[in-house]
Amino acid sequence: MKARGLILAGLLLTLAACASPPSLRNQPDATPPVLGAFRGDPPVASPEGWARRAPLLREALLDAVYGHPPDLGAATVEAREPLTLPGTEGMVMEQWTVRLGDGSNRRRFHMLVGAPKGAAHAPLIVMELFCSTRSAIEGRPPSVFEETAALPAPCRSHNLDPVLTVILGRRISGPDFDPLAQRGYGVALFYPGEVVPDDPVLAPPALAALQPGVPADKRAGAIAVWADLFSKAYDVLSVDPRFDATKVVAWGHSRHGKASLLAGALDPRFAAVIAHQSGRGGASLSRGVAGETIAQITGSYGFWFTPGFARGVPADIDQHQLIALNAPRPVLLGTGNSDAWSDPAGAFKAAKGADPVYRLLGAPGFGAADLHDFRPADGVVWWSRPLGHGVTTADWTAFLTFLDGKVK
Ligand code: GCU
Repeated sequence: MKARGLILAGLLLTLAACASPPSLRNQPDATPPVLGAFRGDPPVASPEGWARRAPLLREALLDAVYGHPPDLGAATVEAREPLTLPGTEGMVMEQWTVRLGDGSNRRRFHMLVGAPKGAAHAPLIVMELFCSTRSAIEGRPPSVFEETAALPAPCRSHNLDPVLTVILGRRISGPDFDPLAQRGYGVALFYPGEVVPDDPVLAPPALAALQPGVPADKRAGAIAVWADLFSKAYDVLSVDPRFDATKVVAWGHSRHGKASLLAGALDPRFAAVIAHQSGRGGASLSRGVAGETIAQITGSYGFWFTPGFARGVPADIDQHQLIALNAPRPVLLGTGNSDAWSDPAGAFKAAKGADPVYRLLGAPGFGAADLHDFRPADGVVWWSRPLGHGVTTADWTAFLTFLDGKVK
C-alpha cells in the first residue's frame, strides 16, 4: 500500500513538474560571493588564500547543514566472493564484505565490485544505490546480498521493478555494466542504508549509536555518514591494483548525489564527482525559490541532516560553497527539464557561484549559458535532458562523455 502511494506521489510530482519547466528567470544568485570576506577571514585572491578559506567553509557547512561525520573506524575487507552475474560479462565481478571499526562498534556493508576483464589501473566509479546491490542486477539474483530491514518501500519487491523503471528511468537501480567495461571503467556499488538506514524511524537510533556523547541537536545526519562511506569505500578499493587510485569518481543520484557532492568536498582523493539531480541539500541553493523547500525536505527527511538545518541556514552559508569545495576537481551536475522538485535553476545558480574558485585554481570553470548547455570540458559541467527525476541511458552517455575527458 505504502509502495503504491509512493509511486503515485512520484507520478503526480512528475506531472506537476511537466506543467512548469524550470527557468532561470527571477531566481536568486548565490550569496555571499564565495571569495568575499567570511567570518573575519579577508577576501580570497590567490590559491593560498583559498587553502586558508576552504577548511573554514567546510566546517561552517557541516555545522549548518549536515553535521560532522562520526568516526566509523578503519575499513577492512573481510570477505571477497567471486560472482557470475547476468549483464556483467565484460567484468570480473566480486562481492566484498567491508567491516568498519572493531569490537562492539563494528559495522558492515556489502559492495559489488566490477573490474573490466584484464584491467590494470582502470578508472573507477563508486556508486551509492537507492535500493540494494541485488536490485542492480537483472532478476535480483539471491547470490547478491540484500539488506532487508531498511530498504525503501518501492525497493522491497522485484514486482515493482518494471514500474520503477518506467517512472525513474532504465538505469535507476544500477548501471549498464558491459558498456562500462568496454569503455575501461571499473565500478563499485553499495547501499549506504546498511550503515544508516534510509528510514525516519530506524535512522535516528542508528545515528545516535554512531555518535555517543554528541548532543542530539548537534548530531550528524545520514548524508554526512553516507558521504563518509564513499571515503571508506575508497580506502579499500584504492589499494586494488586493478584500479587507479588517482581516478576514482564518487557517483550519486538525488539523496546520494547530496552525499557524493559532500564526499568530494570532504575528501580530496576523489578525482571527480557526479551529483545527478541532487536538489535541496545538494547542489541547489538553500535560498533557491523553486522546488522543494527546506521545511519540506526536513519535514520528510529530517534525519538526513543535522537538526539545525530545519531552522534554515545562516546568511553566509549556501550550497555554492559546497560545489566550490570540490574545486579544482571536475563535478557534473545532472538535471531533468521536468524535475522541478530538485530546483535545477537553484543548482545552476550555485554552479555559477562556485565558478570563481575553479578559475582561481586555474581550472576551467562553469561556462553553461543556460539550462540546456552541456559543455563536458568545463570544470563544473551542467547536464540536462528531457523528462524528470531518475537515471536514464542518456544520462550515462553524458556521464561517460564527461568522465572520458577527465579521468582517462
Ligand atoms: C525526495 C526528496 C529529495 C530527494 C529525493 C531522492 O524527493 O524530497 O530531496 O533528492 O527524494 O532522493 O530521490
